Amino acid sequence: MKIGLLTGGGDCPGLNAVIRAVGRKGIDYYNDKFIGIKHGWAGLMSLDYVDLERKNFSGILHLGGTILGSSRTNPAKEEGGFDKVLKNFKELELDALVVIGGNDTLGVALKLSDKSIPLVGVPKTIDNDISATDMSFGFDTAVSVATEAIDRLHTTAESHHRCIVVEVMGRHAGWIATHAGIAGGADIVLIPEESFSIDDVIDKIQRRMTRGKFFSIVVVAEGFQFKENSWKDRIRETDDFGNVRLGGVGELVANEIEKRLNIESRVVVLGHVLRGGVPTAFDRILGTKYGIAAIDMVHKEQFGMMTALRGTKVVPVPLVEGVKESKTVDKETYEIAKVFFG
Ligand code: F6P
Repeated sequence: MKIGLLTGGGDCPGLNAVIRAVGRKGIDYYNDKFIGIKHGWAGLMSLDYVDLERKNFSGILHLGGTILGSSRTNPAKEEGGFDKVLKNFKELELDALVVIGGNDTLGVALKLSDKSIPLVGVPKTIDNDISATDMSFGFDTAVSVATEAIDRLHTTAESHHRCIVVEVMGRHAGWIATHAGIAGGADIVLIPEESFSIDDVIDKIQRRMTRGKFFSIVVVAEGFQFKENSWKDRIRETDDFGNVRLGGVGELVANEIEKRLNIESRVVVLGHVLRGGVPTAFDRILGTKYGIAAIDMVHKEQFGMMTALRGTKVVPVPLVEGVKESKTVDKETYEIAKVFFG
């Protein structure tokens, strides 16, 4: 078969592990031919692609980023965008596409699948907010990087009797904040799914102080908002999919703490550090399992589906299940983090 591979949306550790697994099994077991579409849907609209040979699928397992490049380009936003994609799919004489992306990229894949493009999706995002799968690859790396940062910040916060606010990614879902908060022993974790007032936060830190703890670590997801104000005031711009560019909530939290409790506070924004660099062993393995499953699904003609982790098994699920809503943090997990607040 002749198969096109593309990566879309924000980059994520483990993308190259998926690409490698798809290509290696495709060439060695199925005698497939591959082309790499550059920069997500943008490349399929403008016919920007490269032929991929076996050597291109070597030496990339441990690399961060994506050898194919990525973008947040949405064909729906461009005049005739979907027609261009359909035309170029034919022009390239492709038999199938493997689409590696998050909710936005897989949402476009679903629309194309409804227009009879044979494709298989692979769920990618550090945010872990894709439904129908227990986990997307990239999440484990982001949590590990955030946890290491929290560990380092702990010792300096304690030495200086400071409150350090650690801002992590997560627009609608606070998975990274919750997991890194639990792993790093955060004193408060603030996520978009749970509403807190400024007083609630101040209260928790004050409670620590009465127990002789004059330092605190607060982990906040970028999409968190206090009951009193809205992140809508902090929007800088939106992308092609209407996602807002956030940032700044950490500073807001740190300022309130400093002002009301008179404790020196600092903010550390981890941002894109969470997305860059080498994937953890877990993400390399999950990415590899997803890649192998994706190429097998192509050959079984399980189109309009994506790979999903269910327990320890990778299974095919309909794309529509994956993208129907953003998977938010479940109450049980957040309750575990809450036990250690204040
Ligand atoms: O990949 C999703 C994400 O990690 C979000 O949590 C974050 O808001 C966004 O990427 C920012 O990415 P960019 O700066 O590439 O738009």
